[in-house]
Amino acid sequence: MNRTLAIVKPDAVAAGRAGQIIAQLESAGLRPRAVRMLTMTRAQARSFYEVHRDRPFYDSLVAFMTSGPCIPIVLEAPGAVGRLRRAIGATDPAEAAPGTVRRLHAESKERNAIHGSDSDPNARREIGFFFAECEVPDGGRG
Ligand code: RTP
Ligand code: MG
Repeated sequence: MNRTLAIVKPDAVAAGRAGQIIAQLESAGLRPRAVRMLTMTRAQARSFYEVHRDRPFYDSLVAFMTSGPCIPIVLEAPGAVGRLRRAIGATDPAEAAPGTVRRLHAESKERNAIHGSDSDPNARREIGFFFAECEVPDGGRG
């Protein structure tokens, strides 16, 4: 059993799709373990997406991610990182497989409804970014 981080992004929250998306994750075998709802500050969004700071879409991505409330969720499952990535689909919804969250709910390559950690080390970092030790005992274990 291990853990990953999803974020239902501001586009999907604003569109009233958060409930459907969380239900879809549960159907994929991902069990919510901790949940928050918050609006990221610019500093937080810049830090969370630091790895993309030199990419041309960075400023636009930060503006999008700070545009309204989002819902970070710690999910637990065997092979949690890969399971979530399969459930959400490719970054661009036009390339996402049928039935994936992005194919069903995303508007565009940027406004793409959901984030998923891309590795176990990044899952641990990202869980620690949003959740305190007391909310997720053992931190981002596994
Ligand atoms: P995420 O980190 O949000 O789960 O998405 P990802 O791994 O599929 O994609 P990544 O390459 O990490 O990009 C992070 C987010 O930046 C926005 N993006 N926009 N306009 C563009 O070409 C572009 N490319 C990426 C998306 O919101 C993407 O999810
Ligand atoms: Mg990514």
